[in-house]
Amino acid sequence: MKIFIKIVFGLLILFALIQFIPLDRTLKPIDRKLNFVEVKQTPNEITKILKTSCYDCHSNETVYPDYAYVAPISWSVNHHIKEGREHLNFSEWGSYNADLKKDMLENAVKAVQEREMPLPGYIAYHPEANLSAADRKILTAYFQQQLEHYVSAK
Ligand code: HEC
Repeated sequence: MKIFIKIVFGLLILFALIQFIPLDRTLKPIDRKLNFVEVKQTPNEITKILKTSCYDCHSNETVYPDYAYVAPISWSVNHHIKEGREHLNFSEWGSYNADLKKDMLENAVKAVQEREMPLPGYIAYHPEANLSAADRKILTAYFQQQLEHYVSAK
């Protein structure tokens, strides 16, 4: 029993200590000239879907929820955001070259259709970010429309 109490105590202290490990949550300034929703002048419903379901991980406009401040959950949250931005950052869309834009639109259609995005683990904490079948259709149709415009322009 004594050992058990010691272990629990040790874990509590460890938990308290890891809260002090600093994490970088600074947001880069938003350049409206590069931001996907501004560049494309996306229709309201598309803007709403993107901002609610994608922008937390794929933009510099992340809204951190309370649980994102508690280690070790915060480590996982920060990791997803960092990785999400590295793959696709809607805030920097305008700086992508033509090939990358085309790739990203194609990947986005696939990811949304196949329910890989928004990340399932994220939806569990953000039910409002879940996309209905209708939302998925609207969003993929929009990406596809952008893609067509693009391919024919080539
Ligand atoms: C909780 C964070 C999170 C949310 C929310 C999220 N993503 Fe992602 N996304 C990631 C991560 C992490 C990756 C990279 C790893 C992977 O592919 O699983 C990724 C990868 C992608 C890729 C692949 C990029 C490539 O390089 O091929 C696309 C496209 C994408 N996401 C689109 C979206 C769209 C569209 C939404 C909204 C409907 C969305 N994501 C919502 C975290 C997220």
